[in-house]
Amino acid sequence: MHVALIIFLAIIGIPISFIIYHTIVRIVRKIHPFPIPHFVTNLIDNPVRRKYWQKPDELADRMGVKPGDVVLEVGPGKGTYTMAVASRILPEGVVYAIDIQQPVLDRLEKRLEEEGVTNIIPKIDDAYKLSFEDESLDVIFAIACLPEIPKPINVLKEFKRILKPDGRISLCELFIDPDYPLRRTEKKWAKKAGLILKEEYGNWWAYQLNFGK
Ligand SMILES: C[S@@+](CC[C@H](N)C(=O)[O-])C[C@H]1O[C@@H](n2cnc3c(N)ncnc32)[C@H](O)[C@@H]1O
Repeated sequence: MHVALIIFLAIIGIPISFIIYHTIVRIVRKIHPFPIPHFVTNLIDNPVRRKYWQKPDELADRMGVKPGDVVLEVGPGKGTYTMAVASRILPEGVVYAIDIQQPVLDRLEKRLEEEGVTNIIPKIDDAYKLSFEDESLDVIFAIACLPEIPKPINVLKEFKRILKPDGRISLCELFIDPDYPLRRTEKKWAKKAGLILKEEYGNWWAYQLNFGK
């Protein structure tokens, strides 16, 4: 009896708590936008996500990176996806991992040192005004990051400016992110920024969109 009740409460309770949590966080962030605190990215980057929802190797393969590429990631979090991409562009390629929060980059630098990764360059930079030359990047990617930035279309225009003519912008989203946008919303942002959809993958729970110029 007790077990049945616990199972029943879990089945009902988990989705309801999730909906309440999403609603509250969305309302608070609409009224007062702020970057996700760096320690929260530890929770986002968890084994379940990496094994089932957003597999680092799968996402990196879909980006079509190749040896020698110059790549930019905005909001690298713990660097799991950054490292999957970095391993595919060796020996000459480099990933610039940028964020506006220094603690995110400090934690990433420590991990890179521990794991002996040398082709990722953590750097403070602002997605609205990136310190890269026009048409200088082969691939730009952002995972569960663009929708938390209040003016995503402006950011996408900035990506377009620094992307090489045959480059790719890859955006990946996950439903449990409280900033999660519908796939059609993100496509609309990209269209308004003058980008062209090239490939799309995944489903409503976790999707990946590749754009070009
Ligand atoms: C949700 S976290 C990224 C999670 C990570 N990509 C992952 O998948 O685990 C979003 C990051 O974007 C960064 N960010 C927010 N606004 C930014 C901006 N204007 N320029 C650069 N980074 C920004 C935040 O500091 C935060 O670290």
